[in-house]
Amino acid sequence: MAEHSLNNLINVAYLVASVLFILGLKGLTHPRTAVRGNLLGALGMFVAIVATLFYKEVVSFELIIVGVIVGGLIGAVFAIKIEMTAMPQMVALFNGFGGAASVFVAGAELVKTDDPVTMGMQALIAIAISGIIGAVTFWGSMVAFGKLQGVVVPDHPVRYPGEQIVKVILLLASIALSVLLVMEPTHADYYWYITIIASVLGILLVIAIGGADMPVVIALLNSYSGLAAAATGFVLNNNVLIIAGSLVGASGLILTNIMCVAMNRSLANVLFGGFGEIQETASSDDVYGGKVKSTSAEELAMLMDGIQRVVIVPGYGMAVAQAQHAVRDLYNLLESRGVNVEFAIHPVAGRMPGHMNVLLAEADIPYDKLIEMDDINSTMDTVDVAIVLGANDVVNPVARTDPNSPIAGMPIIDVDKARTVVIIKRSLSPGFAGIPNPLFAADNALMFFGDGKKAIQQLISALKEG
Ligand code: TAP
Repeated sequence: MAEHSLNNLINVAYLVASVLFILGLKGLTHPRTAVRGNLLGALGMFVAIVATLFYKEVVSFELIIVGVIVGGLIGAVFAIKIEMTAMPQMVALFNGFGGAASVFVAGAELVKTDDPVTMGMQALIAIAISGIIGAVTFWGSMVAFGKLQGVVVPDHPVRYPGEQIVKVILLLASIALSVLLVMEPTHADYYWYITIIASVLGILLVIAIGGADMPVVIALLNSYSGLAAAATGFVLNNNVLIIAGSLVGASGLILTNIMCVAMNRSLANVLFGGFGEIQETASSDDVYGGKVKSTSAEELAMLMDGIQRVVIVPGYGMAVAQAQHAVRDLYNLLESRGVNVEFAIHPVAGRMPGHMNVLLAEADIPYDKLIEMDDINSTMDTVDVAIVLGANDVVNPVARTDPNSPIAGMPIIDVDKARTVVIIKRSLSPGFAGIPNPLFAADNALMFFGDGKKAIQQLISALKEG
């Protein structure tokens, strides 16, 4: 086939792949269509890969097949082995690999071209951008992984005098070297200096942020990995890479923004590593001293006799306890007795976006029973019993009342407005934000201490016996 018509065919395939990516993303916006969306995205990637294999200068099919097998095996092992609660680390690792791939692909294009002057300014600028963003993404993601996994790097923010100035200098140095590279492209060594400086920048950017805030950083790095891939698409003149990279870049940024809003942080705050600082809050003795009432499964079963509306608020503890299947059993039991059971979903409950939705969907809770925070809050005063299962910060009324609190201004689920609130957790330990929760000492609150799954199972037995 003539080269011209082959190129046309490849571009048509790329267009089909891009449409599939967009439809895939659309599908992922709702749990009902998410599986189909995922499959459409994967199909798009398959089409893109096959089309690329026909590209003019594919050198070694053997190497590509080995790459597909090794990569596929690693991906499958990760997908099967990784616990739901360790998902942020895994995403960090994979973002990092994407960034590293951009660095090497762009670098390889520069090195392999006999006379880089002929590459043109657009490609050279794209090479420099791939190097900067790719290296920041790789090293930033490695630090994020280390913080979340508790290896090598300290979990707390690493601070030092003049840190912002150091970062600005590194950024300016990498931009200056990029200008030199574009002007003198035969100096491939400039490219490697750019990536070294950007690598240090990536490490410093993320090391300044506390481990607890890593999920937001990871969403941002996800966006960076997309931008790096899009830049590499310009280097290779590969349309599907430009489109897919831009989609990842844009959706990562949207996700970062959603998380920031839900945690009441500004994007600038994230970008300059200004959060994760510990602030003065009331001590737990002041908040809880003599005011906490604990309860038992039997007492709760009696309390729940004859009620009409229950709202369950799941949080990170439900994920830790893997209590979602026990929760489904409780849901079935209560619904069979005519009780209306709903689930209140806070946008940042758990440790990753959609964490609660995924767990509840896994346990076959009907989607229409998952009610978003804004929708359920307006009717919270008609709830007989709110069961807070392993959630803490997302129901902490301090967010409304204490402007100095680390969660000040964060929207919360107003369980304190329900007639009775039952909080299931193992102790009075704080959640992610590290602060006490006055809800636990409220007049209408009862603490049911124990592991989330066991506590729900005990409640089911007590309800059946009662
Ligand atoms: P948290 O505030 O972290 O509280 C979780 C609670 O679960 C803890 O207080 C813990 O208390 C309890 N727990 C742990 N293991 C348990 C078990 N086996 N059984 C029962 N309870 C258990 O969780 P949340 O309310 O879901 O809030 C999420 C927090 O993470 C927010 O501050 C949010 O900003 C932050 N965050 C979320 C995200 C996303 S995207 N979801 C990203 C970054 C940060 P005990 O130890 O006493 O049991």
